[in-house]
Formats: sequence, C-alpha cells, structure tokens
Amino acid sequence: MFELRDRDGFGRLGRLATPHGTVETPALLPVVHPDPGRQGIPPGELFERFGIRMAITSSYLLYRDPALRPRAEELGLHRFLGFPGTLMTDSGAFQQHSEGTVSVSPAEILRFQTRVGSDVATVLDVFGEPADSWQQAEAAVEETLRRAREARELRGVSLLAVPVQGGLHPDLRARSARGGAPFADIQAVGGIVPLLERYRFTELVRVLAAVRPHLAPEKPVHLFGVGHPMLFALGALWGGDLFDSASYHKFALRETLLFPEGSLPLADVQEEICGCALCREVPLVGLSQRSVEERQLHLARHNLDQCLREIARVRQAIRDGTLWELAERRAGGHPALYDALEATEGSGQLFLPVEPYSRRTFRFVSPLSLSRPTLLRWSAGLERYGRDRGPRHRVRGRPLSPEALRAAPPLGPEGPEDPTLWVVPTPLGEVPLELTEIYPVGPSLLRAGPRLELPPPEAPGPGSGGPVDRAEGWTLRHVLGLLEWVWGRSLREQLVRERLRPVHSRATGRLRRVLRDGASLLEVGLDGLPHLTFQGGAFLQPHLPYPSGRVVASQEASAFVAEGRTLFSRHVQEADPGCVPGSPVLVVDASDRLLAVGRAVLAAGEMARWERGAAVRVTAHAPAPGPGGSDTSK
Ligand code: GUN
Ligand code: ZN
Repeated sequence: MFELRDRDGFGRLGRLATPHGTVETPALLPVVHPDPGRQGIPPGELFERFGIRMAITSSYLLYRDPALRPRAEELGLHRFLGFPGTLMTDSGAFQQHSEGTVSVSPAEILRFQTRVGSDVATVLDVFGEPADSWQQAEAAVEETLRRAREARELRGVSLLAVPVQGGLHPDLRARSARGGAPFADIQAVGGIVPLLERYRFTELVRVLAAVRPHLAPEKPVHLFGVGHPMLFALGALWGGDLFDSASYHKFALRETLLFPEGSLPLADVQEEICGCALCREVPLVGLSQRSVEERQLHLARHNLDQCLREIARVRQAIRDGTLWELAERRAGGHPALYDALEATEGSGQLFLPVEPYSRRTFRFVSPLSLSRPTLLRWSAGLERYGRDRGPRHRVRGRPLSPEALRAAPPLGPEGPEDPTLWVVPTPLGEVPLELTEIYPVGPSLLRAGPRLELPPPEAPGPGSGGPVDRAEGWTLRHVLGLLEWVWGRSLREQLVRERLRPVHSRATGRLRRVLRDGASLLEVGLDGLPHLTFQGGAFLQPHLPYPSGRVVASQEASAFVAEGRTLFSRHVQEADPGCVPGSPVLVVDASDRLLAVGRAVLAAGEMARWERGAAVRVTAHAPAPGPGGSDTSK
C-alpha cells in the first residue's frame, strides 16, 4: 500500500496505492468543501488542471447537511464531488475544536465515510487543545484509541487514518502514536492547527519530535492542517507524507498571496513579483480592478500553484539529499520558523538512525547548517578517530594525490600507523589529513584551501624515508583511515599488514580503488567513501564480527540475492543495528554465507517492517558456480 522510493531526514518519497489511484508523496491534499457553493476552485479543476491526485473533504459537514447527504449517499463521494482521484474524509474532530461539539457518534460517522466510498476514512478523534492539562490530554488519547480499535472493525474497504493527539505532553504524544499504529493504515498528527495559526512552530517541532520515534516507520504520516508552503520542507523533514489544508483558499478569501518565503497581502503588491502561469495571464497589479469573486479565485489558484510548486521542490530535494538545505532556506522566511528549525537540529540525535550515509555535497545555507545531523555523526566519528592518537600538528592543504603526498609530513618509524595526527583546518573544523576526501568535507569544501605545505621543521624525521616512501606511507594511511572510518579500528588493526594497493585517478589524483593480489576490493566514490566489490566483501567478512556490516536475508530470498537481485524488506531477518540508508553492506544468509554486497536503502530498524520495496540494492553478487560446479564464493 505504501512504498518507499527515496528519502532524506525523516522525509520520504513514497507511493501510496488506493482504490482510486496511486499518489506520489509527499503530497498536498487540498481541502474541498462538500458544499459546491463554498468550494472556490471546483474539484474537477483540481484534478484536471492542477494534477491533484488526492484531496480531503469533511464527512461531518456532509453528514449533517440534509440537502447534500442523500445525494452523496446515492452517488458516492467521488461522483458527488466530481473528483475521480483518491479522496480522504475527515471525521468532525476539527469541528469539535472550532465549534465546541460534534453531534454524531464515532461509529456512525465512520460507517458514513465507508458508505459513501471514502478511500481513507478518519477515526473521530478527540481534539486535544494545546492548553489541555495532562489529565485532559490523557483522556483524549485513550478515548481516541478506543475509537480507533472500534473503527478498525468498521472500516470496510476504506483505508483508516488514526489521529495522534496528546496536546503538548510528549509522553502522551508518544503513547498516542504507539497505541494507534496497530489500527492505522495512515497515522495522522492532529491537534496542531492551533499551533500553526499562532506561529508556534517550535512547539510544533516538539510535538513532532515526541511523536516521530513512536510512529510505525512503514506507514504514511499525515499532518493535519499544514498548508502554508513555507512549512512543507520542515514538515517533510519530520516525516510528513501527506499535508492537508484549506490555506490556499482561506488566504485567498483574506486577499493574501502565499509563497514558500511567506505570505503577502495583495494590497502591498506593487510589482509583478510572481511569474506563475496564472499571474502571467492575470497580472497581480491589475487584480484590484476585478470583481471580488474573480480576484479571490485567482488568488486561490495562485496559492495552490505555489503550494504544488513547493511540494515539487520538496520531492526533488528528497531525491537530491538536500532537504535540510531547503528547510534552512525556508527558515529564513520567518523568525518563528528559524527557531523551529533550530529546535529540529537540536533534536538531531533522533535523526541519526535514518540519516543517510553520505550525500553528494555539503552546502552551507545558514548558521543552522553547522548543526545538521550529518555533522553530529561526523564529529562523533572524528572524536572516535582521534582517541588515543596524538600529538596533533596542524598542516594546511588538501589533496591526497601521490604527488601532493610526497610533500606530506614525514611519518615516524610506525609508518602509516604513526599516532601523530596531522590535521587540516576546514570549514567543519580540523580534520586528519587522511580523512579530508570523505563527505561532508571532500573536495568541494577544500577547494578554496591552499595546496599542502611542508610540515613545520620540528616534526620528527627518523624512518621517514625519501619522498617516494613518504607518499606510499601516506597513501596506505589514507586507505587504512578510510577502512577504520567505515568499519572501525579493529578492522584497521587486522588489516595493517595486508598488501593493499591503492590506485589513484590520473585525472584528479584522488584515490579510486584499492586492490589486493590484483583484485579490486573497493571503489571509492565521489563522496570519498568505499563501494565494496564482491571480492572486497568476501575479504572483509572474516574480519567483521557477526552481524557487523551485514544484512541477513531469509532462506527464501537467498538464491535470488546471490544472483544479484534486490533484497526486499520483507525478506530481511536481521541487520547490523548501525546500518543507515546508503551504508555499504554484506548480504549474507542465515548461516553467514556471503551472497552479495550492496547499499542499504532502509535503516536497520525499518528493515523487515515495510511490506513492499527494497531493503538493500545489490551492487555485486556471488560469482556463478564454475563449470566444475564449485561455488567460488566459498
Ligand atoms: N483537522 C485539523 N486538525 C485535526 C485533528 O486534530 N483531527 C482531525 N480529525 N482533523 C483535524
Ligand atoms: Zn502567481
């Protein structure tokens, strides 16, 4: 039902399959009023002109309208609204917030939603207000869970959205998320509209931080009422897959333009600031001459278009691994949003289990960039690397090409294992010379730096050999440093005496691959990190204690994986708990026989939970049995 295609932060590029089509997520679900007289942009236009594939309407407003309800029951929701895509229905909890009460039973409104053919029915939750006491919030959470259990039986063919409540109480938010997961096809974070309306985004982030670790990792997450385009990057970063909102319409009624950078009253617009297709057709500056209806409809279309453009940017950013950058740029739009992102980065530890192994490049956007989770992992890694090593000497410089390394500081009698750390100042702090090609530093951050300079004369010389030896010693140190960085110091210690032969790129001078006895063990990517060959996996395996570096495939999948096919999530039995998306992994069977090597798609804690989709993309597999029938992988 929900399939993961790509990811960044907690953000996911997903596919949600419903009886009325497949929805690419993250997606914005425009709120459609069930009363055609109050709709603004007609639902058919949402589908045809804007390409909207999923929308949301209120089953409660429909249910309680004696003129509309019988028609909806007769025609079914899709024909009634004139929207052929996926329709989600809300339950009336929002009216409890805005009107004080709801006058329908939870079972009745759920049956109504399934009766009219809603693709996603929502449990009638008890709306938790931010000011609710712990006792009030607990009662709302428990009652919502009771209704969710009941709704699971009543849902028919509709998917079920189960709201998460709990007000501003982190423990109750966690309980609500955990307790609702078994009944939910979609988990929907509720009770946040009052925070959104008052720009209390930091509290929103606290809610999301309390909720996210307790949601089922394989289920789509809906954020109720997140509809301002400036919030989509932040919302997606926290794992929002579906956003719903009437903002595009409500802001239009207030004659206000939405942009991902913020909102702007039409009255303040003196220049043609928008180049969207709609505003090219009907220039903003002339809009005041038009009738109110025309003006508001134009603004609603512009606003929706801005929302969709921003959702598209979020999706692109997830593909590119630049979602943090996008969120940081958006945080510049409003101080409250900046604070919220600061609070997000303050919760960076939460992101580490799913934080990608590497990205294309690291780009600074704002002072917040220095708190991204990737830098938490990086500094923890540097700390580990520096342990029991020293003294430290500062050198200035960059490439690790053999030519440059002839000028590198002389190594002591221990050669590559010299405990001295020669560190290079980088925008991300001091980095041991042998690690400077690795993401997030790498050439893009070092490009501006000067070439390697000779070490200070007081650096010791014995055993340092001539310049060629020196380059060899450093090159080996580079390789060992890389292996230690990825698989730990114990692996390095076991491999010190191996005859590892580095190969550098002629064009760039960068380390490209590492050979042993003529066979390539690993290739080094542009991120400075290793991709294992099958021989490399077979070589490393005995040096890595089980289940370190491994993902264990089920018996059923083993033969397929050994032929180079993808390892699917449902066939994972166990995984190294340190495995994150993008980690290089050995795929083994239950008896630890190496089947293939590849890159993890999911984090360890997510594997086996997704019913569909890949857990490991296999990049090399066991050689086919030779003519004699012997398996060369053994
Ligand atoms: N719409 C906005 N907020 C909420 C909420 O908390 N629950 C439901 N069901 N709908 C909402
Ligand atoms: Zn526009």
